[in-house]
Amino acid sequence: MTAAAAAHALDAADPLAPLAAEFHHPQDRQGARLIYLCGHSLGLQPRSAAADVTRELEDWRHLGVEGHWSAMRPWADYHEWLAAPLALLAGASPREVVAMNSLTVNLHLMMVSFFRPHGARQCILIEKSAFPSDRYAVVSQLLYHGLDPSQHLFEVAPRAGEDQLRTEDLLATIERLGSRLALVLLPGVQYLTGQRLDLGPLADCARRNGAAVGFDLAHAIGNTPLALHEWQADFAVWCSYKYLNGGPGAIGGCFIHERHAHDRTLPRFAGWWGHDRATRFAMGPDFEPMPGAAGWQLSNPPILATAPLLASLRLFERAGLDRLRSKSIALTGFLQSELEAGLGDLIELVTPRDPDARGCQLSIRLRRAPDAARRCFERLTAAGVVGDWREPDVLRLAPSPLYNSFRDVAFAAAALTEAARA
Ligand SMILES: Cc1ncc(COP(=O)(O)O)c(C=O)c1O
Repeated sequence: MTAAAAAHALDAADPLAPLAAEFHHPQDRQGARLIYLCGHSLGLQPRSAAADVTRELEDWRHLGVEGHWSAMRPWADYHEWLAAPLALLAGASPREVVAMNSLTVNLHLMMVSFFRPHGARQCILIEKSAFPSDRYAVVSQLLYHGLDPSQHLFEVAPRAGEDQLRTEDLLATIERLGSRLALVLLPGVQYLTGQRLDLGPLADCARRNGAAVGFDLAHAIGNTPLALHEWQADFAVWCSYKYLNGGPGAIGGCFIHERHAHDRTLPRFAGWWGHDRATRFAMGPDFEPMPGAAGWQLSNPPILATAPLLASLRLFERAGLDRLRSKSIALTGFLQSELEAGLGDLIELVTPRDPDARGCQLSIRLRRAPDAARRCFERLTAAGVVGDWREPDVLRLAPSPLYNSFRDVAFAAAALTEAARA
């Protein structure tokens, strides 16, 4: 069977195939649909997002300030509309999650509460290739506490000649540094390699060693299964513009484990939106936090930048997480096998081969001179496939089970094969 015929059969048998029509797919200048495999950077726009935003614009137009109480979704409690669907994706209870701010802001807020250096416990552990914003954030927190990053920041790297972090190396480092660690901060899915970390054992190890543990789930939420409550992470942060399709600069999210829900001893940076809902508008001078993650909110949320996320979360609910994950594994597996069939030794997979150890993204290195590899990517783009290129040599492609088909994947694999063999 040809790849196109196989893809056709797989699409015909895919119960989630109709969901692709629920999204706007970007087009080229001639109006042809692009094959969009860039949800790891910015997810596509749900068709119903415009109606959700329009609804808020209309409520604002007709109700003015009264929209806080009388809008279809009253703005005073808007975050509550998002809590249940986000909790499902995070593997948490609704009280453990909140949509607020953006990822890096939330990371700082979480470090205010959970990076509490004291005595010999002064250090932060991250991975060597952490997303730059995370590294900037932890370095600035260390400096803020008067600590020296060259002494107090530890970074675990893959072994020489390897791309992926080994769980055993991470565990051994946490055990070794044990009593010096105040915080372990790790990604759910590594942004460059697409590697999915085994977060449960890592959280367990960090906690047994007395460190707080937090996760950056920018590339994990909406992409891979999560069980944050069960894993007992102290906190997690994410953005909503990648796999959650919330739109550019969409509101971020945060998980704080239930065991901290009522903890008044934890320091936090406070704002009025985290104040007890029942007395928030009494405008008293003293801060009384709401229980749970909502108590970490600072400001009233940007309703117009939050509404599209609701549209996307409805589609997640409709699809069902188990079905999405099954399709994702099949879709990415198909991409891998088609690329290997077309390109053989010309490509090197940076992402783990084990479907359990990755989400939907494949990171690929072309065994070519750097300039030639970059030109392959440019030819792929010219052929109508949207992926991205990370210097010096990594091409990332992420088929989304919400809006990509097996035919999209077959097309992309054929286009890359042609681009690389040209
Ligand atoms: C892994 C990771 N962490 C942090 C960020 C920063 O996100 P934000 O700009 O929303 O703070 C990103 C953005 O792409 C990311 O991919």
